[in-house]
Amino acid sequence: MTKERPIVVLASDHAGIGMRKKLRDELLAGGYEVLDLGPETADPVDYPDYAEAVAGPVSRGDARFGVLVCGTGIGMSIAANRFPGVRAALLYDEFAARHARRHNDANVAVFGSRTMRPDAAAHRLKVFLAEPFEGGRHAVRLEKIRRMENRPGQYVPKGAAGCPS
Ligand code: RB5
Repeated sequence: MTKERPIVVLASDHAGIGMRKKLRDELLAGGYEVLDLGPETADPVDYPDYAEAVAGPVSRGDARFGVLVCGTGIGMSIAANRFPGVRAALLYDEFAARHARRHNDANVAVFGSRTMRPDAAAHRLKVFLAEPFEGGRHAVRLEKIRRMENRPGQYVPKGAAGCPS
């Protein structure tokens, strides 16, 4: 019996099309089930629309992992992290790719087409998808983030003073 690979949903903005296609092809070659949400043409688009297209299914549990590409990876990261349960990480090197999974249980990998080489991005994605979450003390920290999602703007860590109003 072959081991079932998780569904990976991908999107980019116009700046990330080339890198997204490379990542998609590498995923398909690796046996992943891939849902590529575009865009297909280089006409300028707004990255939040594509971040939502990927972060939505990940947030709802319809996709196990997401991949997003924009020029820097920063806009996609900001937008995707607005969705409950989404932990989007900008994978700026291999160590970050490994630890985004091990320590942060990241479920969306983000890349910058103007700041990274395509081969390096493809390698980091491979590392990211293969790495397990360690749990334990890291799960306790993620639970604190989950609580922030339920009480936006109200979370004050124990022992820390709130900002003066
Ligand atoms: C598009 O020019 C660029 O702003 C976008 O790809 C991204 O880098 C935003 O964070």
